[in-house]
Amino acid sequence: MGGHHHGEGKAPEGTVLAVCGKGGVGKTTVSALLARLFSVRKNGRVLLVDADPAVGLGMALSIFPERTVNDIREEIISVVKERATDSLDLAASVDYKLMQAVHQDGGMGFLSVGRPEDEGCYCQLNTLLREAIETLSAHFELTLIDAEAGVEQINRRVMRSVSHLLLVCDTTPKSLNVAETIRKVAEEAVNYRKLGLLVNRARGEGEARALAARSDLPLLGWIPEDETVREFDSSARSFLELPPCQALHAVEEAVLEGGFLDI
Ligand SMILES: Nc1ncnc2c1ncn2[C@@H]1O[C@H](COP(=O)(O)OP(=O)(O)OP(=O)(O)O)[C@@H](O)[C@H]1O
Ligand SMILES: [Mg+2]
Repeated sequence: MGGHHHGEGKAPEGTVLAVCGKGGVGKTTVSALLARLFSVRKNGRVLLVDADPAVGLGMALSIFPERTVNDIREEIISVVKERATDSLDLAASVDYKLMQAVHQDGGMGFLSVGRPEDEGCYCQLNTLLREAIETLSAHFELTLIDAEAGVEQINRRVMRSVSHLLLVCDTTPKSLNVAETIRKVAEEAVNYRKLGLLVNRARGEGEARALAARSDLPLLGWIPEDETVREFDSSARSFLELPPCQALHAVEEAVLEGGFLDI
């Protein structure tokens, strides 16, 4: 089913895959399934980023880092308040702090965005998250981002350096509309090379194809409702321990075997 190419002619850089879509469609589930596949295929060279302040991926993988991007944001603010630091020193120490916040687990790096107490801090946090993604992804072969629901992080250019945009929807036209909106905003705000659609909770290929045909988003594949996923979710078991199941297989086929992601 292939993917749409965009911005070709640029030097190939590290692969940065972001999983985006409407709230509740299965972004975290897809991210966790991919993390499970990568943990087997690419030991040690994968960075996972939980970019959702509501904490999705960390929970799904039972990874709870001590320090988040928001913690670093707070540290920077207190340093700046205390004394006038040289701005170059500050920039270097930010990169160092970001590296230190990468939690190593299951042979992969993990970074969590965290959550500010004050609504007004999201803009700063998103700026630092963008910096984190751009700095840290250079040290990993593959970066996987479980994005916040909707179009905000795309619009704010947090995902600017994303090379592969994986749009997830369920079988509702509403969620397909959100995927289309994300694509539209990403045309300006993201430097992506590939983009594709995954239809979650479909009852068959026919349903997925019929939905995708309402848009011109390239369909990568579909994921069925999966009992094993449901069980792992309700018992809070780590998806890194997920046994082979339909959903895992579906994601592997759509994203890896279909050639969307070359790893
Ligand atoms: N294919 C599936 N089979 C069974 N359960 C699923 C499937 N996809 C998602 N779910 C369940 O649906 C719920 C929502 O999925 P998930 O948390 O992945 O969505 P999300 O897009 O990350 O949501 P949010 O926007 O809140 O971050 C979860 O409880 C998840 O376990
Ligand atoms: Mg989520």
